[in-house]
Amino acid sequence: MYFDERRAHFLQDRIQRRLKACQIDSFHNYYRLLTSREGKAELAALLENLTVNETSFFRNKPQLELFQKTILEQMLHHKQERRDWTLKIWSAGCSTGQEPYTLAMQVCDALAYYYLRNPLPFDMPSPKPLIPPPWKVEILASDISYSVLRTGQEGAYNEIQMEPVDYMYRLRYFDKVGDTYRIKQPVKSLVQFDFHNLKTEFLPQRNDFIFCRNVMIYFDDAEQKRLIDKFYRCLNPGGYLFVGHAESLFGLTDRFRMIHQNNGTAYQRIEVEP
Ligand SMILES: C[S@@+](CC[C@H](N)C(=O)[O-])C[C@H]1O[C@@H](n2cnc3c(N)ncnc32)[C@H](O)[C@@H]1O
Repeated sequence: MYFDERRAHFLQDRIQRRLKACQIDSFHNYYRLLTSREGKAELAALLENLTVNETSFFRNKPQLELFQKTILEQMLHHKQERRDWTLKIWSAGCSTGQEPYTLAMQVCDALAYYYLRNPLPFDMPSPKPLIPPPWKVEILASDISYSVLRTGQEGAYNEIQMEPVDYMYRLRYFDKVGDTYRIKQPVKSLVQFDFHNLKTEFLPQRNDFIFCRNVMIYFDDAEQKRLIDKFYRCLNPGGYLFVGHAESLFGLTDRFRMIHQNNGTAYQRIEVEP
């Protein structure tokens, strides 16, 4: 994790809180605890305090429109031509799950709309499944914080968190239990939550789309460059990377082509000729 001068105070404050909670009187002794075998649980607790988990459903709508209406539509078309019926999406730094579930709902709608206009040449089971066979959709949602992963896995959201979700989406994809909206099981089953630290080398491969939004801002330049190179390798040829509204790949890489449409931005992997 990278903390520049502007965030040094935040770092100090959060570490001090942990010192107090552990009844430790010096940074040095706290450091010794963190690096010891017994300190594993405390390291996890510190991490929870240092990550910024702000997120929401349908965050950055122009970008999601570009994804669903243009890029995903083209991808479905190309894949169907090649008889490749798999779609793999990775939400890297997924926080409490609103991002991967938004993508799951968008994919379900996009597939339904696509086959309304281009019926498949075989019979559809009745009632129609959310994902028309033979398509297989996998959405991996990863984070470095175990507590946000647990919340995502639970898939239950309150009225305030549901504010950006319009009533058609609520009706189709959520069950209301008391004051809580729960993601319906068929949508939930498309999303797999897992721990991944983006700083490590071994990251999920063969993705068609990677969403890593509002995560890189916490990395320094060198680490951002390394991460983008890793994302390049984690994407299928022609795959797409989506970063946050305040983030860009400008000056960090020349291995992606920028697509900008109606205020939405995406980056497509450029293929090098052999
Ligand atoms: C501000 S949230 C963004 C959530 C979502 N992508 C969005 O845009 O709404 C940033 C998330 O990145 C996660 N994160 C930070 N550093 C990470 C790392 N090295 N590896 C994986 N996840 C990380 C944090 O735990 C947090 O949940």
